[in-house]
Amino acid sequence: MTILLEARDVSLAFGGVRALRQVSLSLRDGEITALVGDNGAGKSTLVCCISGIHRPDRGGFVFEGREVTFETPRHAREAGIETVHQNLALVEDLTVWQNLFLNREIVRGRGPLSLLRRGVMKRKAAAMVAGLAVNLPTVSSRVRRLSGGQRQAVAICRAAGFSSRLVIMDEPTAALGVRETRRVEELICRLRDEGHAVLLVSHNFDQVMRLADQVWVMRAGHCVAGRRVAGTSAEEIVALITGAQAA
Ligand SMILES: Nc1ncnc2c1ncn2[C@@H]1O[C@H](COP(=O)(O)OP(=O)(O)O)[C@@H](O)[C@H]1O
Ligand SMILES: [Mg+2]
Repeated sequence: MTILLEARDVSLAFGGVRALRQVSLSLRDGEITALVGDNGAGKSTLVCCISGIHRPDRGGFVFEGREVTFETPRHAREAGIETVHQNLALVEDLTVWQNLFLNREIVRGRGPLSLLRRGVMKRKAAAMVAGLAVNLPTVSSRVRRLSGGQRQAVAICRAAGFSSRLVIMDEPTAALGVRETRRVEELICRLRDEGHAVLLVSHNFDQVMRLADQVWVMRAGHCVAGRRVAGTSAEEIVALITGAQAA
């Protein structure tokens, strides 16, 4: 299988905090790749570098065989990388369809007199939701009325639409109950089955062992190990995270 994304010696410091220290890892097309590590290990910072929110101090990324630097999240999105951040970034007072099309509204005409094509967006939103078999009241529901799992589903749906190549999810089930977690896990598997590569940040080893093909372990800003999931165990991953086992 081909490598879709590679991080090469990515380093980033926030003042004196060295959040990322020469992180190198790769992920393959058509796979779920997990990123694990204790709180503060640098996982979200790496996600923010990949998705154009932070710029690395040193090192960089190769995406689809080309060296890339994403100056903004828009650049990453245009390249085909969509991210569901830990805080989801949905707008509570807008509807599901408005959230799905936030910052990529379909308009007729250009400039200040352009018209939002509400009907088109609603229909497309309904198709996106149906396509992922997401369980929602209607696309006209306001996000504030949805459960945690439904919100996560909207955010994933937003990331999966728009022909993305790579969908990154930062702790997508951390705040969910058991049943909602199952549904989101089904969504993650469906994304892979439909040909998206997925980068899954997770604290849940059981989930990682069940869903992922490859797992990378971060500790104190370093990427300390990578394993094929078929060739490791939850015990080994825990030992790598805590440093009880050398990589
Ligand atoms: N915007 C920021 N400003 C300053 N320090 C930050 C910022 N973001 C993250 N950090 C620090 O970088 C380190 C890695 O954080 P983070 O990537 O959020 O870890 P993880 O997602 O693995 O829990 C932590 O020490 C955190 O406090
Ligand atoms: Mg985090």
